[in-house]
Amino acid sequence: MNNFGLNIWSDENFKINSGLLTVNYKSSPSLLNIVNKIRSEGTRGPILLRFPHLIKKQITNLYSNFDKAILENNYHGNFSAVFPLKVNQYPHVVKATIEQGLEFKYGLEAGSKAELILAMSQIDDDTPITVNGFKDKEMISLGFIASQSGHNITLTIEGLNELKTILETIKETTLNIPKIGIRVRLHSLGSGSWAKSGGMDSKFGLTSTEIIEAIKLLKNNNAMQYLNMIHFHIGSQMTDIAPLKKALREAGNIYAELKKMGAKDLNSINIGGGLAVEYNQNHDAKTHNYSVEEFASSVVYLLGDIMDTKNVEHPNIFTESGRYIVASHAVLITPVLELFSQDYQEELLSFKATNPPLIEELKDLNKLLNSKNAIEYMHDALDHIESLFTLFDLGYIDLQDRSNAEILVHNIIKRAILLAKPHTTNDLKELHTRVQERYLINASIFQSLPDFWGINQNFPIVPLNKLDETPSRAASLCDITCDSDGEIGFDVKNPLFLHDINLKEEDYFLGFFNVGAYQETLGMNHNLFTHPNEYTVNIDKLSYKIKHKVESKSLLKILESIGYNDSEINHKLKDKLNLSTFITEKEKNDTLAKLETLLKHNGYLRTTN
Ligand SMILES: Cc1ncc(COP(=O)(O)O)c(C=O)c1O
Repeated sequence: MNNFGLNIWSDENFKINSGLLTVNYKSSPSLLNIVNKIRSEGTRGPILLRFPHLIKKQITNLYSNFDKAILENNYHGNFSAVFPLKVNQYPHVVKATIEQGLEFKYGLEAGSKAELILAMSQIDDDTPITVNGFKDKEMISLGFIASQSGHNITLTIEGLNELKTILETIKETTLNIPKIGIRVRLHSLGSGSWAKSGGMDSKFGLTSTEIIEAIKLLKNNNAMQYLNMIHFHIGSQMTDIAPLKKALREAGNIYAELKKMGAKDLNSINIGGGLAVEYNQNHDAKTHNYSVEEFASSVVYLLGDIMDTKNVEHPNIFTESGRYIVASHAVLITPVLELFSQDYQEELLSFKATNPPLIEELKDLNKLLNSKNAIEYMHDALDHIESLFTLFDLGYIDLQDRSNAEILVHNIIKRAILLAKPHTTNDLKELHTRVQERYLINASIFQSLPDFWGINQNFPIVPLNKLDETPSRAASLCDITCDSDGEIGFDVKNPLFLHDINLKEEDYFLGFFNVGAYQETLGMNHNLFTHPNEYTVNIDKLSYKIKHKVESKSLLKILESIGYNDSEINHKLKDKLNLSTFITEKEKNDTLAKLETLLKHNGYLRTTN
């Protein structure tokens, strides 16, 4: 039975129970039940579900593994973490993250002015805020305002000019100066797609010469007491732990050197983010080679070891993992609207009294196909179809002959793949592509899975039901945008098989998992499809509650969001109808009412699915 790789990617968050995909938590509701409940109120189109208990699980895992490593290694520093807002700034994610992280004083990281304002507005006490990214005088002033408002804030400099601006601002201020961090430029590279966030060619951080300059500047301006942290980040989705260990040795030694250079108040190392999430659902093994436990114990052990060797006090450890914290909490659910290749159904065959000889041969191959001859007959069928296409191009057979040939060959390949399964060959596997079923999903890949479009990032895909039936159709998924890139094609190396279904008789929904990190804010309004309807699902022992519905933008609001005057458009459409001489007064009123309803809907398709 195909379990859609749940054992590899789901970290026990979801389980199959009686053919249904269920949330493996407390009352364990099925996703189909949740979706049907939401749809019973008239919602159509894609749905984004948020599960805050999964954010809590990740935050707890992170802290408990570091606390354990600190205890086991007799480490003297403490552990803190912040959530990088760039990973998901949506209100119900940030609020859930803060709420679930309250007991740990889990903080926020900001990388822009807007994110900093967001952080300042969401955090009320001395929970840490770190600020990375390039900063101008305005952003630095915001950091000072945060500090003066009582926030525990560290401004991490990306270059010497930022430090100079901070030093100027210190001169204008008397009390509550923000802490200063230095992002160090390591020669160590990361691993995975974002490895270039580290290394000497990275666009971020200070070189060793610049670090020495920074120390001179701080000393000359009597500001050494503000230097509190050094920071590095070697890239998101680290697949290998080895480069992190290298980076830790390098950063640890820089820290120890700075202490020797008189940085008395320097007390923290911020190791950035990068903890990986498993997106693979097809291969037996995980694509990243470490657990959060190994990650925590490596960091704590290595930093302790370096400091002990250099006779320096153990620094506090900060992390900024984002993907690891929120990726799993969000699931995108899309209805399937249509299966395209149903036109290959055998009942559509229409033979003539006399068929071309090659068609007669295909009929025989189709009739006589069995497990012993499947591969040979399929090769014959592929040979025949090439000849039949040539005959069509030369005008010797007509469109009906060609349609018959296509249906017959499609069916021969489909059956041969099943019949020859125990003795499958590479070319048979490749042929799945030829008989793939194209499932039309009511969603936009550009809006909801931009990393698939941009960097070929796979997301685990699982149907919400029928999980006790073996899926037989090689599947490619087409979205509803007018763009051929809006397709997750069937990939022989990473195959997706789905069920053969009759959508007239039953609904079929697909869940896309681990979409909670980066996808929502990177998502783009291509074709003016916007963020889908979202819901937060709180599960308890007996049941679950659906909260915080945020509706997808209505058609007029979509236009308003890119700068149009929505009420002007609304009036224009209605005026045209009111002045129309093509319809009766009654038709006019009915049509106006219809238009009114239509404009309130979002841009996704509103068929029964
Ligand atoms: C400085 C910094 N910190 C933290 C992160 C978060 O990384 P991740 O989401 O992989 O944990 C990033 C993302 O690239 C980053 O640039």
